[in-house]
Amino acid sequence: MRPKDLKTRIFLDGGDPGETKEIIRLLGFLDGQTTNPTLISKNPRARQRLEKGEKFTREEIIDFYQETVKEISKLIPEGSISVEVYSDLSTAAEAMLRQAKEMFSWIPNAHIKFPTSREGLKAAEQAVKRGMRVNLTLCFTQEQAAAVYAATRGAKKGDVYVSPFIGRLDDRGENGMDLISNILKMYQKGDGHVELLTASVRKTDHLLYALKLGSDIITAPFNVLKEWGEKGFPLPKGNYVYDSGNLKSIPFKEIDLTKKWQDHDIRHELTDKGMERFSADWNALIKA
Ligand code: E4P
Repeated sequence: MRPKDLKTRIFLDGGDPGETKEIIRLLGFLDGQTTNPTLISKNPRARQRLEKGEKFTREEIIDFYQETVKEISKLIPEGSISVEVYSDLSTAAEAMLRQAKEMFSWIPNAHIKFPTSREGLKAAEQAVKRGMRVNLTLCFTQEQAAAVYAATRGAKKGDVYVSPFIGRLDDRGENGMDLISNILKMYQKGDGHVELLTASVRKTDHLLYALKLGSDIITAPFNVLKEWGEKGFPLPKGNYVYDSGNLKSIPFKEIDLTKKWQDHDIRHELTDKGMERFSADWNALIKA
């Protein structure tokens, strides 16, 4: 059951409704789920089909994503389900927005994921104006989070998430958890309309420190949530210290949240690499 002092919402990061069922059984609660093209490509039904040498047509893969998301939505009707648009480095905002409109109609509780790139922000800006809920993914810098804030100004709390990817920063020797603390500190000066969703979680310590920092939401893979549940849902105590080992710290920057999003320097190579990887994993599912 949900610990009574737990304020942060806990999401499962995955593309398999079987895992969703299992986590609800193990934890007794689940506040939402995040999916992405790579996670959908790892879905056991998709894997089985590929192992038989049967790839999907473009229509079939969209139907498969829709079915999967519908199944997850039924398991967490009160929660939020993040559904990601296809975007490679050449996908224009208009194409992302077209997909978003369709995906948003699949289930009543979708947040549409757009990359935190120029085209992604352009699309997200239009999406919130049209009343869609959004999740800006592949965020690696405080500037990108400031741009998300600016591009979605006017949206109501609950409708906009930003997803900083901590594990991928750790992977290249930077302390991803610093980014969480820096964005939360920067957002204190704002109106609170963007919620921070800690993503790319690799271990229980990421989860515990994100809880301590007061992340609005944390999405974690099956194994991390399972381990946390099996340990009895420990919450960080007052004296909890996160050990970042040899990771290089990321300094806090004073950034003006009132600037236009286009005036922020939002390029980050991991955002580009992330889009390349998501699109490659998706395209590998499709018949040539
Ligand atoms: C969540 O929304 C992300 O898609 C996810 O956490 C990515 O994690 P990874 O870096 O382990 O792929």
